[in-house]
Amino acid sequence: MISVAIDGPAGAGKSTLARQLARDLGYIYVDTGAMYRAVGLYALRAGADPADPAAVDPLLPGIRLRLAVLDGEQHIYLNGEDVSALIRTEAVGMAASAVGANPAVRAFLLGLQRDMARTGNVLMDGRDIGTVILPDATVKIFLTASPEARARRRWLEYQAAGRPDRYEDVLADVKRRDEQDSGRAAAPLRRAEDAVLLDTSAMDLAQSLAAMKQIIKERVGE
Ligand code: DC
Repeated sequence: MISVAIDGPAGAGKSTLARQLARDLGYIYVDTGAMYRAVGLYALRAGADPADPAAVDPLLPGIRLRLAVLDGEQHIYLNGEDVSALIRTEAVGMAASAVGANPAVRAFLLGLQRDMARTGNVLMDGRDIGTVILPDATVKIFLTASPEARARRRWLEYQAAGRPDRYEDVLADVKRRDEQDSGRAAAPLRRAEDAVLLDTSAMDLAQSLAAMKQIIKERVGE
């Protein structure tokens, strides 16, 4: 079974690239960020502070998550409700980042993520896939780009979606999330020693995709 671990900071293009790569290679795509987002959404809805383990931990037994592919797109179900679109907001992203610092949440999702890697060839993206979840992954890629490049991409996506967010605010969010994700004690974002570093600051999507395919090909021989 082949597993590809893709880690990196928010906005590096991980999910767009990983989804496309998985489709091209015929692997199962596992978006672990969507799982943290679903937990963050659940906490927000319950009126709990996502950063407070005392408020979040008791909620975990009430959370059931399921990932499914529909028409080639990954959907995530939170207690049976399709929350795939609802989790794509800055507020839920921040909540996801906050619950991600909570060891009980990480332990809760670890089993689910490892189980998914046993079901077939997978391409999993997140923050700690190469370091914690799949330390023996066949291929590890650490995908990054400058904060400005990442904020600009995210801002352009928002513009295309007709959202009024200001670039300065998006950049501030990107930097705040970097600090939160890299500075936390529980499974902080860091490059695994055996991960290939790919900086996409000066690459477009097609170039990034080609570079990733090359890295995978060198190790898997596909
Ligand atoms: O990749 P994303 O933006 O959808 O992730 C949202 C947040 O979830 C991210 O800021 C940190 C957290 N996360 C995590 O801690 N570990 C993962 N494997 C994936 C996401």
